[in-house]
Amino acid sequence: MTPSTVVDVVLNPAEIALLPQRDLSGATCVVFDVLRATSSMITALANGAAEIHPVRTIEDALELKKQMPDAVLAGERNGDPIEGFDVGNSPLEYRDLAGRKIITTTTNGTLALRACEGANRVLVGAILNIGALAEELRLSEPAEIVIVCAGTFADFALEDAMGAGLLIEALGPLDLTDSACAALAVAGAYPNPLDALRRARNGRALEAKGRGEEVEWCAQQSRFTVVGSMERAVIRPLPPR
Ligand code: MLT
Repeated sequence: MTPSTVVDVVLNPAEIALLPQRDLSGATCVVFDVLRATSSMITALANGAAEIHPVRTIEDALELKKQMPDAVLAGERNGDPIEGFDVGNSPLEYRDLAGRKIITTTTNGTLALRACEGANRVLVGAILNIGALAEELRLSEPAEIVIVCAGTFADFALEDAMGAGLLIEALGPLDLTDSACAALAVAGAYPNPLDALRRARNGRALEAKGRGEEVEWCAQQSRFTVVGSMERAVIRPLPPR
């Protein structure tokens, strides 16, 4: 990459809804849903999961399950497991799914991923794999990087901007849009990512439910080196370079 590489950040669900109308054919999208969808996905891939199918609705998940009866049904609504599904959306549940195919639907994360389908490449972003993401982007040299912050319900999510800012920090000097500068400022404001996650609405909601351990898990910077890449709506680990 060169300093002329453009980095943009999509900060909220309203902007995400417009992505299918945007020309992303020359862009690599990196989707962050730090609490917790993309953190769970990276945890699953790092622990040997075979592939992940992010779908928009519970009905889509159940329909796909008919074609893939051995797949794990996963996801959440309002942060809680979906009745009749095998697992919820806690990253701690994704540590022992080695070899499994996972079908997942979440409130924001899976919608954000699918909204990027027009991009040249779509990568799964988490604080858990920031270093590996930055290395992959440096080596693949995309003309444009669009970092997508999945948000919470209809709102901006501080934890996703934190992930975006950490990635921009790791990439070094590039041509940043104003929203990319804002994400970088968020990372600068929180030297310890866990502080940002604990301040975030999603983080406070999880801690109130006694699930602070999940927030701590998602804040571990570069814990894993796996990079998840989505092609034709299926996420798989990139082979190590
Ligand atoms: C989301 O997709 O909005 C989040 O992952 C929700 C959650 O995990 O609680």
